[in-house]
Amino acid sequence: HLDPFIDPLPIPPIARPTVLSPPPGRLPVTGEAGRAEHQRFEEFYPEVQYEIHVKETKYRYHSQLPQETVWAYNGSIPGPTFIARAGVPAIVRFRNELPETHVGYGSPEISIHLHSGHVGPASDGFASDYYSAYKAGPTLSRPGAFLDYHYPNFPPNKDFREITGTLWYHDHREDYTAANVYRGLAGFYLGFDALDTGDETTGLKLPAGVGRYDIPLLLQDKRFDSGGNLFFDQLSPEGFLGNHFLVNGKVQPYFKVEGRKYRFRLLNGSMARYFEMYLADAGDRDQPFTFIGSDGNLLERPLTLKKILLGMAERADIIIDFSRFAPGTRLYLVNRMRQDDPRKPELQQLRPGIRMLRFEVGDKTEDRSVIPAFLRPLSPAPFNGSTRKRSWTFERTNGQWAINGKFFDHDRIDARPQQDVAEIWRMETKGGWAHPVHVHLDDFRILSYNGKPPPPEWAGRKDTISLLPGVTAEILVEFRDFNGRYMMHCHHHMHEDHAMMIRFDIQPTKP
Ligand code: C2O
Ligand code: CU
Repeated sequence: HLDPFIDPLPIPPIARPTVLSPPPGRLPVTGEAGRAEHQRFEEFYPEVQYEIHVKETKYRYHSQLPQETVWAYNGSIPGPTFIARAGVPAIVRFRNELPETHVGYGSPEISIHLHSGHVGPASDGFASDYYSAYKAGPTLSRPGAFLDYHYPNFPPNKDFREITGTLWYHDHREDYTAANVYRGLAGFYLGFDALDTGDETTGLKLPAGVGRYDIPLLLQDKRFDSGGNLFFDQLSPEGFLGNHFLVNGKVQPYFKVEGRKYRFRLLNGSMARYFEMYLADAGDRDQPFTFIGSDGNLLERPLTLKKILLGMAERADIIIDFSRFAPGTRLYLVNRMRQDDPRKPELQQLRPGIRMLRFEVGDKTEDRSVIPAFLRPLSPAPFNGSTRKRSWTFERTNGQWAINGKFFDHDRIDARPQQDVAEIWRMETKGGWAHPVHVHLDDFRILSYNGKPPPPEWAGRKDTISLLPGVTAEILVEFRDFNGRYMMHCHHHMHEDHAMMIRFDIQPTKP
């Protein structure tokens, strides 16, 4: 037993720019794709530079638990939060300082993926592009203590492609993603632009101030053994459920809030657990909140909701107005999704559920932020009639996890979509399991979900789709920003590592 609500909610530090020395190198790929990537990036110079040290550190997940050896970006759990500006590209140097030999699970060779980033193929954290000072992965030509990742942070264009919203970065090392993320390698990357400015007096005037009134919340479960030590089973292909619930790396913390509006960026960063999150008062009555964005993108209009389903890697961008509550009120972020078995989420409501975070409401304070009636126009789905179709079936084959009966092979190209040509992907789950499926590079739109239009919270741009058991869905994909090598996979991290992943190579548009 651990006493809940005795640790304050950790607020990850903001990543601070630096001047890299030695100066940023060339991109780690050669040939057409590498050149194209570099040119695309150079359109948006000048860039801002960061350096992140990936290292071992000691950390306590709760003040009644012993210290653990964790792996963390800059030694911080969650990793430092990036504040990205549309039109200002960033180069992030991830310096791998993990020890070559280590105790316990995980791989000290790493590959970093910016989830929802419109990023060139060499900077996308391809699963086999891993590196350490001692060893390079099979598809990276050299070992190196660091790799420079180029993040273009594209400005919104006529297609309303945007980087604004809640992105995150995490490890993507082939076969070891689950272990490395579980050990601590995940952080937030928030994008702002001329509408979603990060300032309460300009643009949409959303609640702003990262770490103050705009708070990232990493939701996870972890298992601690009877001695209080963190436990992980890397070999369990079914997946792995924790016995404790954490927000930003602490078991059931509390957060003191002012009586005003806050923006929260919820992210399901667990291995195998679905969350259905509610805002409840001390009497377990559900309170409404405002949902403004799914995954990395704002919706057209805010929605008033009382619950939100989050599969692994999905995000919810919400606003809670605490001025509606008297000072001294306690409110809770509650998970009511029952899941006793990693097989599938139980869809019934579980009461009282798990109170993951306690809000302690303070006095009313000045609040100039607003919840606008209209957020951002949604580009028309780029359906042009000449749409090509593909089908993907997600199921278990011989105890492992397969897409269309095949296991991931980083050398095998499973699809060659044409750049700038929309496609409809039919996604189907078989065998009673749920799979949250993520497509790299460009956002997609859900056209249908079990033959029906998607619910309004899934009707905007998405990068991950929760395919619940027995679901067939159609999504519209169009890859615009780059060509080259990317992945699509189940974001249940054990399924991903046990090979439920494909490689697709976007073919350049003919001149
Ligand atoms: Cu967030 Cu390929 O992953
Ligand atoms: Cu899966």
